[in-house]
Amino acid sequence: MVPVEELLLRHELLPVAWEAAVTAASFLRDERPLNLVVESKSTPVDAVTQMDRGAEERIVQILLGARPADGFLGEEGGERIGTTGVRWVVDPLDGTVNYLYRIPMWGVSIAAEVAEESVIGIVLVPEFDEGYVAIKGGGSWLIRHALSGPSWAEQLQVRECHDVSTALTATGFGYSGERRVEQAGVVLAVADKVRDFRRMGCATVDFCWLARGRLDAYYERGLHRWDVAAGYLIAQEAGAIVTGLWGDSPHEETMLASVPQISQQLRDLMRKAHTP
Ligand code: IPD
Repeated sequence: MVPVEELLLRHELLPVAWEAAVTAASFLRDERPLNLVVESKSTPVDAVTQMDRGAEERIVQILLGARPADGFLGEEGGERIGTTGVRWVVDPLDGTVNYLYRIPMWGVSIAAEVAEESVIGIVLVPEFDEGYVAIKGGGSWLIRHALSGPSWAEQLQVRECHDVSTALTATGFGYSGERRVEQAGVVLAVADKVRDFRRMGCATVDFCWLARGRLDAYYERGLHRWDVAAGYLIAQEAGAIVTGLWGDSPHEETMLASVPQISQQLRDLMRKAHTP
C-alpha cells in the first residue's frame, strides 16, 4: 500500500490527470439532471448525452489549461495535434448506456500516450467510489474512496487461471446490429470452451476488473482507442497480457486481454472462432 499523494507524484502527468478525472466523475455523478437529453451517434442505440459532452469539456479545460501544447483525442469529438509528444486519450463517460439506465458500471477514462503507447492510465468508477491508476513500468493500483477521500493505493495483480476452459470471460458488443450478429457468432463458437461469460457494458470496467482478479479474460471487437488507452495499461501493469487477435497491439480491431497463463490458448481459440 502507498499513500495516494505519493503514488500521484510518481509520474509528472498523474496529478493533472487525476484532477481532471475526479472533476469529470463528480460532475457525472452529482450533477446528473432528471431528464437526460439523449441523442444518437453511429446508430440509433449509440447514445450521447449532454453529460458526456460536459464531462469532456471539463477534462479538456483542466488538461489543456495546464498543458496547452499537448495533443488530445476525446470520444466526444475533441481532437487536436500537440507539439510536446504527449497526447491525451479520453473517454469522458465509458458505459453511456449503463449511465442512462442507472447501472453502476460506467467510468471516466484518461490516458496519456507518448509515441502511441499509454504511459499513464486512470479510470474512475464513481458509483463504486473507486479509482484505478497505472504507470507504465510502475504498476497498477486500486484507490478506494476515490471521490470521498482517498488515502491509500493498493497494488493490483491479476489472478491465476491455467486453462481457458475455466476462464471467466468478459466481452462486449458494438452498436450496429450487423456487428452484433457477428459477435454473437464468436460467443457461440467459444460458449462451451470457457467457464462463462460476463457483459459489463463498460470496456474500462472490464479491463479494471481483469486487473483486480474479478475476471480471467476479456475480448472485444471494434473498440475505439479511447475505450482501450487507459484500461489496457491498467490490465497490463497488473500482469495481464493484452494483444490483438493477429498482432501485438491492443488497438487492433479485435483486442484480447487475459491472465498470462491462458493468453496463447485464448488467442488460438479466438483465431479459430474468427476463421470461417
Ligand atoms: C462502449 C462500452 C461497451 C463496449 C462498447 C463501447 P461507450 O463505450 O465500453 O462496453 O461494448 O464497445 O463502445 O460508447 O459507452 O463509451
